[in-house]
Amino acid sequence: MSKDKILVIGASGQIGSVLMQALSKAYGLNNVIATDIREGLHDDLFFEKLNVLDAPRLAEIVEKHAITQIYHLAAILSAKGEEAPLKTWNINMPGLFNVLEVAREKGVAKIFFPSSIAAFGDDIPRQNTPQNAVLKPTTVYGISKVAGELWLQYYYRKYGLDVRSVRFPGIVGYQSEPGGGTTDYAVEIYHKAVLGSTYNCFLAADTRLPMIYMEDAIRGTLELMEAPASALTVRTSYNLAGMSFTPKEAAASIRKHIPDFEIKYEPDARQKIAASWPESIDDHIAREDWGWRPKFDLEAMTQDMIVHLQENYAVLQ
Ligand code: SER
Repeated sequence: MSKDKILVIGASGQIGSVLMQALSKAYGLNNVIATDIREGLHDDLFFEKLNVLDAPRLAEIVEKHAITQIYHLAAILSAKGEEAPLKTWNINMPGLFNVLEVAREKGVAKIFFPSSIAAFGDDIPRQNTPQNAVLKPTTVYGISKVAGELWLQYYYRKYGLDVRSVRFPGIVGYQSEPGGGTTDYAVEIYHKAVLGSTYNCFLAADTRLPMIYMEDAIRGTLELMEAPASALTVRTSYNLAGMSFTPKEAAASIRKHIPDFEIKYEPDARQKIAASWPESIDDHIAREDWGWRPKFDLEAMTQDMIVHLQENYAVLQ
């Protein structure tokens, strides 16, 4: 039996809700505490309402449950962030500081914090963007991720805090819905296809972006967190790749299962954000350091998404 007690912040979100299940399975139901600003979305046995900006409440929860690991997933994403830049900064950064400080003060052993392909921006090679490409993001979300990465490394170097991070591509899954991101189209498209509706895509047909299937994203996160500390050479955030595709390619892949699926393209403000991001990612350091390998390509993901969404919608009928 593991002695770890894990706290998930943002447990009702796109990643958090799926991660909760994986962590409960790996560490035992009693050892994983879900927290979120929203109540009622969780039927988890151990749920605590938490606004991560409330540092005393965070400290109280960490103490009460003798937490040893924190997964800090609460943040405002790229597209939503652009609607209120300073508000986004004032949530994303102090939220992270509260987590780093409570970890330092209460002796929490390990932290996971997701960075993103949004950390990249101007002046990068867009194909196979390397780990050490220049980080000049164009969104406030991206700026908060770059700053966050550097603060992780700072706490690691100064205080020896074992912080671990990956730069997630867009995450696609049937279990949960994203909110406020630029890669959200890649989830919406499958829902519309399975429901028999036309999809109005907010990105242009040929916009290529790095993506990853939820199952790979969750497995990769757990593998990174389980890797021996001595194997890790990156303490900012690891590049992580799953696959890369365009909306047009996703639609073609869906049509192999749902031949009459229709898509229209109405690019909006999110197009500019997408155009500033990599098209594909070089993740060889994650592969070398902790054995990262994605399992799903576009075709395997499409098949799995459609099967699961068809089941989910059939249950609702
Ligand atoms: N999926 C996120 C977004 O689109 C990127 O990390 O904002």
